[in-house]
Amino acid sequence: MRAQLAPEANTGRYPFTLPIVRELERSGGIDLDPRVTFLVGDNGTGKSTLVEALAVAAGFNPEGGSHAFRFATRASESSLGDHLILRWGIRKPRTGFFLRAESYYNVATEIERLDKDPLSPPLLDSYGGTSPHERSHGESFLDLITHRFGPRGLYLLDEPEAALSVRGCLALVARIVELTAQGSQFVIATHSPVLLAVPGASILQVGADGEIEQVDYDHAEPVALTREFLAMPDRFLRHLLE
Ligand SMILES: Nc1ncnc2c1ncn2[C@@H]1O[C@H](COP(=O)(O)OP(=O)(O)O)[C@@H](O)[C@H]1O
Ligand SMILES: [Mg+2]
Repeated sequence: MRAQLAPEANTGRYPFTLPIVRELERSGGIDLDPRVTFLVGDNGTGKSTLVEALAVAAGFNPEGGSHAFRFATRASESSLGDHLILRWGIRKPRTGFFLRAESYYNVATEIERLDKDPLSPPLLDSYGGTSPHERSHGESFLDLITHRFGPRGLYLLDEPEAALSVRGCLALVARIVELTAQGSQFVIATHSPVLLAVPGASILQVGADGEIEQVDYDHAEPVALTREFLAMPDRFLRHLLE
């Protein structure tokens, strides 16, 4: 899948002022792996803005969910997605889901509402049978990826590790491998060195100037920095605090 900025989309305001969006404009677009693309980079480099724009361009609710979700709790979504053109590879995804840690609570509320809506079929079974509000954040996330995610889907996740233990992250890695073997595609913004270990994934690192560089696992910043820290936490901290 390739994501390109529509010509003359630039409004001169956010999000077009972000370095990562200028880079999209300059480079003519960004190629996403047919299986797994990770976006890494420091806080504020624009990863969430990009993932959300991909979600909007793919027809998902900007605050999370699938095509069926239409709730809105705030009007702060960037308009980037309206100016992003997605060129699909061999085939368009059959289904999908957009999940951002920040608004998961609202997605959970919407799942409950849709389930109770007499005009729509019962929904909870496809989310594991229990309302996400009656599960922990991590449990309900694992319900979602186990029961709701399926073959030939497009899954856009923003910092899924926010909900997950290390064990939970490993479970997500296993599920990603399973689903990509069934034709699903993932785009994931993350800081988790565990998630990044998905074999064969493309890791795109966004720099402070918006430049997007493909890096291998060992050179991805979350991996390199965590490794450095874990090798000598005491020394690392002393250096940091002095
Ligand atoms: N609604 C908004 N209006 C104006 N600027 C925003 C808005 N949302 C985010 N930004 C700006 O965009 C930058 C990138 O944000 P974001 O995409 O959330 O970064 P990341 O997910 O990489 O941490 C932020 O530093 C902020 O300055
Ligand atoms: Mg973010």
